Amino acid sequence: MFHLSETTYASKPEHYADLASQARGLLAGERDLIANAANFSALVFNSLPDLNWAGFYLFDGTELVVGPFQGKPACVRIALDRGVCGAAARTREIQLVRDVNAFEGHIACDAASQSEIVVPLVKADGSLLGVWDVDSPRVGRFDEDDREGMAALCAVFMESLRG
Ligand code: SME
Repeated sequence: MFHLSETTYASKPEHYADLASQARGLLAGERDLIANAANFSALVFNSLPDLNWAGFYLFDGTELVVGPFQGKPACVRIALDRGVCGAAARTREIQLVRDVNAFEGHIACDAASQSEIVVPLVKADGSLLGVWDVDSPRVGRFDEDDREGMAALCAVFMESLRG
């Protein structure tokens, strides 16, 4: 049985470091993509404050298709030339959006989302697995600590799939 940590943290980097070690433990010994993606999204969504959606969009060779997530039902398919997720997939760079209303082409799956961070997930062979997308109802929710922390968490996730 896995228990979510109820520790309070001195800083965001410290919180992310603990979360990364919890993720490592949670995913250890399992390589199934759906199982690990489901547990990873549940861990992050329930551990970080002020989130309304956290989950995966998986690349099917043509577009992004929604995968395991936590939050309200979401848009199913996102073309690579659309939205923040499409931008992350296309550029393979983390997209940190302070205010989604100011992002040209943002896709509003949930009107509550005001800011978001999207991390591209690239396999060892260089191909695109998909993206990790986290939304917040608060403008400016994500900063450079979140960029580094989410990148480190996604590295743990991608490592788990290699077994
Ligand atoms: N906001 C995303 C769409 C996905 S939902 O937020 C879950 C985007 O513009 O790519």
